[in-house]
Amino acid sequence: MTQEPGSYPVDGTLQDQVRYLADVAGRAPSAHNAQPWECRLIGSELHIGRHDAYALDASDPTGRQTALSLAMYVEAFVVAAHRWGIRARVTRTAQVPGDRTTAVLALTGCAPAGDSPVYRAISDRHTDRGPYAPLAAPAWLDSGGPAASGADTRLFPITDRDAVARIGGLAGSGLGTALSLLPMRRELAGLVHWHGEPATRGMAVEALFPGTERRDMPAAEWFREHADAEEAAASVRDVYATAPGLVVVVATRADDPTAWCDAGRAAYRLLLRAAADGLAHDIQAGPVEIPALAAGLAAELEHGWRPQILLRIGRPLGPRLSGRSVRRAVAVD
Ligand SMILES: Cc1cc2nc3c(=O)[nH]c(=O)nc-3n(C[C@H](O)[C@H](O)[C@H](O)COP(=O)(O)O)c2cc1C
Repeated sequence: MTQEPGSYPVDGTLQDQVRYLADVAGRAPSAHNAQPWECRLIGSELHIGRHDAYALDASDPTGRQTALSLAMYVEAFVVAAHRWGIRARVTRTAQVPGDRTTAVLALTGCAPAGDSPVYRAISDRHTDRGPYAPLAAPAWLDSGGPAASGADTRLFPITDRDAVARIGGLAGSGLGTALSLLPMRRELAGLVHWHGEPATRGMAVEALFPGTERRDMPAAEWFREHADAEEAAASVRDVYATAPGLVVVVATRADDPTAWCDAGRAAYRLLLRAAADGLAHDIQAGPVEIPALAAGLAAELEHGWRPQILLRIGRPLGPRLSGRSVRRAVAVD
């Protein structure tokens, strides 16, 4: 069931307003749509952190995917708050062992930025794992644009076709590996449903494997018994080789929780800007998480950069599933 916030409580308390914004930000993407965030409002500080009930033990042993997802949530909150007249200044990011807080946001009043295509993109952006029409790197990808790279975080558009095909090989291997390893397959099976089934987290099988038709069995059972690792890997390779749209790698100098947060925020700004232009996107975590594949992906970048997110953006060639991916309501303690 998709959670829809009502209308913004202009005259409400800060707690009411933060509750509203916490739900809007909940449209941010996350690995496996696990939505690993939790929020605590302490005075005028919002602490955003990892919800232990939403850990991905098998697919995210280092916590990188969770940190990237949390960073996207943080950035979504910042953009949404500004639209309604709250400045959310991120005073701390990164995960300290033993502390579940990933980011602290200091909230103060400001002039509302008002409605904008980028604000609306928080709700409208979506993943589409199918083929995309060709797309040249948009001008806003340059440094200085809305997706601006920092000194330690950089967006690398990959325009060479052979490089894109090689990266597609890595992405295919990543998905094939994830589906072949039993603990990951089990974890993923617990996070799938059929499109339109009531759910608050996880992914529709039909969205995960474009072209799959609903079968008369629970989605988890279909996934465990019938998801074909080789076929899925081949289909990812094929999309990258034939109709990838624009491939972008978000990379950092360092490889620690602070860098993961920076990469997640930069990637999300890119996704929002792209969505404001009507573009969909697709993220592949395998080539970042699996060390041998990550080395292959790094080899496509300038020396000294560690890939953190591999994504494609573009205009889907096929029809998309009607309806958005599911979300849970976000509690603010
Ligand atoms: C850090 C991160 C890693 C992701 N990794 C993958 C991936 O490896 N494969 C994939 O198909 N989708 C991946 N996704 C996309 C999520 O599955 C998707 O965002 C989520 O299911 C919610 O759907 P939506 O983006 O349409 O709202 C990733 C997303 C994030 C934020």
